[in-house]
Amino acid sequence: MHVFVTGGTGTIGSAVVAELLANGHTVLALARSEDSARALKDAGAEPLRGEIADLDVLRAGAARADGVISLAFGRDYSSPDALAQAIAQESAALTALGEQLTGTGRPIVTVSGTPWVPGRPSTEADPLPTDGPVGGRGRSVNALLELASRGLRSSAVRMPRTVHNQGKGGFAGLLADQARRTGIAGYPGDGTQSWPAVHALDAAVLFRLALESAPAGTCWHAVADEGDAVRDIAAVIGRRLGLPVESVPQENFGPFGPILAMDQPASSARTRDALGWQPTHPSLLEDLENIQP
Ligand SMILES: NC(=O)c1ccc[n+]([C@@H]2O[C@H](COP(=O)([O-])OP(=O)(O)OC[C@H]3O[C@@H](n4cnc5c(N)ncnc54)[C@H](OP(=O)(O)O)[C@@H]3O)[C@@H](O)[C@H]2O)c1
Repeated sequence: MHVFVTGGTGTIGSAVVAELLANGHTVLALARSEDSARALKDAGAEPLRGEIADLDVLRAGAARADGVISLAFGRDYSSPDALAQAIAQESAALTALGEQLTGTGRPIVTVSGTPWVPGRPSTEADPLPTDGPVGGRGRSVNALLELASRGLRSSAVRMPRTVHNQGKGGFAGLLADQARRTGIAGYPGDGTQSWPAVHALDAAVLFRLALESAPAGTCWHAVADEGDAVRDIAAVIGRRLGLPVESVPQENFGPFGPILAMDQPASSARTRDALGWQPTHPSLLEDLENIQP
């Protein structure tokens, strides 16, 4: 397939581009800067210059492709306003891509987060949260999945809290960044809450499998580790950086604080069974050993 990818230079996106190219697909990828265009070209993709706010560029990219993988999302989580703006941009982008492909039967794979369910690991059958600080992302993904009834093979790959590669990325990456800034490997609450995780290279395989074969309107869980206690994650970060490991107030983590404080394990049993996905790369706790002081 000729695949239009947004976010193809990110932690997950760069792995997705490599996975697609290694499996006989070709890639057209959105690039918002000269540096990103060069990185994509070096990876073997054709860059298409533009931002996710350039809806005409997105429509043109989708029109040239047999399928789309949408991963771009702003990196500024420093304030509720910045997060809300990134969510609004993603929502407009998914609407434009979905409208462009409606009626074609072509696949579009988008990304969301695994939901949380009190007292048990969430499954692919649980609905996405549509309120709270990132509820807008759930609403845009649900709207895209509803277009399945109008001739769009839309699917969503749900990410666990940490998608990592070489010890970097996701919520564990936020903890490590905060540890470097503050001199404390901090975690919110008592640290017994658990977060699921996946290696980016394993997640990339699932995006390819969903693009190739997921039925319209379906959700999948890219979960390799069902849940690591957050204090165990902080303990590896503290040891690698030579910093004390302590509970700190959840407000120290900005708009994500309430989410970081929650227990939110997730299962991928159905994904493994139905799509034949099998993670093979290091677990989060193993990969965090790559963090350098
Ligand atoms: N990593 C995780 O643990 C995790 C967990 C759950 C969900 N997700 C979601 O999965 C997706 C990919 O995650 P990631 O970790 O790979 O993200 P990432 O490393 O932060 O990369 C973000 C990507 O989006 C692009 N981008 C950001 N703003 C853009 C804009 N305004 N216009 C065009 N491109 C833009 C970036 O391009 P540049 O390189 O040019 O900046 C980059 O390619 C995101 O939607 C993320 O929210 C990630």
